[in-house]
Amino acid sequence: MEKEEIRSPDLDYVRDMVRTRSAIVLEPEKAYLVESRLSPLAKKEGLASIAELVEKLRSTPYGALHSKVIEAMTTNETSFFRDLVPFEVLREQILPEIIARKGTSKRLNMWCGASSSGQEPYSVMFTIFEHFPELKDWVIQYFATDISEEMLTKCREGKYSQLEVNRGLPASMLTKYFVKKGMGWQVQEDIRSRIDFKPMNLAGTWLTFPPMDLVFIRNVMIYFDMDTKKQILGNVRKILDPDGYLFLGGSETTLNLDNEYERVAVSGTSCYRVKKG
Ligand SMILES: C[S@@+](CC[C@H](N)C(=O)[O-])C[C@H]1O[C@@H](n2cnc3c(N)ncnc32)[C@H](O)[C@@H]1O
Repeated sequence: MEKEEIRSPDLDYVRDMVRTRSAIVLEPEKAYLVESRLSPLAKKEGLASIAELVEKLRSTPYGALHSKVIEAMTTNETSFFRDLVPFEVLREQILPEIIARKGTSKRLNMWCGASSSGQEPYSVMFTIFEHFPELKDWVIQYFATDISEEMLTKCREGKYSQLEVNRGLPASMLTKYFVKKGMGWQVQEDIRSRIDFKPMNLAGTWLTFPPMDLVFIRNVMIYFDMDTKKQILGNVRKILDPDGYLFLGGSETTLNLDNEYERVAVSGTSCYRVKKG
């Protein structure tokens, strides 16, 4: 079958709808990406073509089909202990500091703002279980959110293929924190139940969070424009505990976006705090 090329007005409509609803910027030259993502979706929805899919989007009020298009346009690339260094810094420096500081209240609040299929929040949980058993007695509120319902379902199930666990997960953790499920693996219930997975659009209305000790918004702001990045960083400041930490992705920064943050002086990681005074 010949590959369908998206018509220019249809591409404009999709780019505009995706940007308005999710802040994801699709450059015009990304037509091939839109085609490769929407063609299978049109088929799945029983529609003959991308043109028919866009026609349906145009003629119906914003709803489930529009959400599916946005989900199809998200990039969900992730892996366990992605980039490694941030997790080492967490283990060697940041969690010991938080534990010493909050040893009386014994409360830890964390949020992962673009959890994708769950590898990132689970990596944080494995770090805690592996190295800080004392935290098991703390009241830990751990939220993990994403715009994609499909990804959140995967997060809640915590099921991963052999290929997925081969990416970044130490073998010792696989045997300790997973159970074998058919051809793949599932994160143990005790760990899964400690994370509250919820839908949230970073460019929409935010959930109400308690003051956060640790916020992870990694490898998602790269898809947004400057104004959206500024707005998100401003919102994070409002929910971050004055002594809390924000982790961004390796290629992301607060620089030239929000002067209220300062970089934590550890090499190889994009970790920030709000400036004091
Ligand atoms: C590339 S993944 C990053 C996953 C993980 N944080 C990591 O670093 O490995 C980007 C995730 O951001 C989510 N996303 C994209 N736009 C979003 C938005 N406006 N609000 C919330 N999540 C969004 C996507 O669904 C996707 O799961």
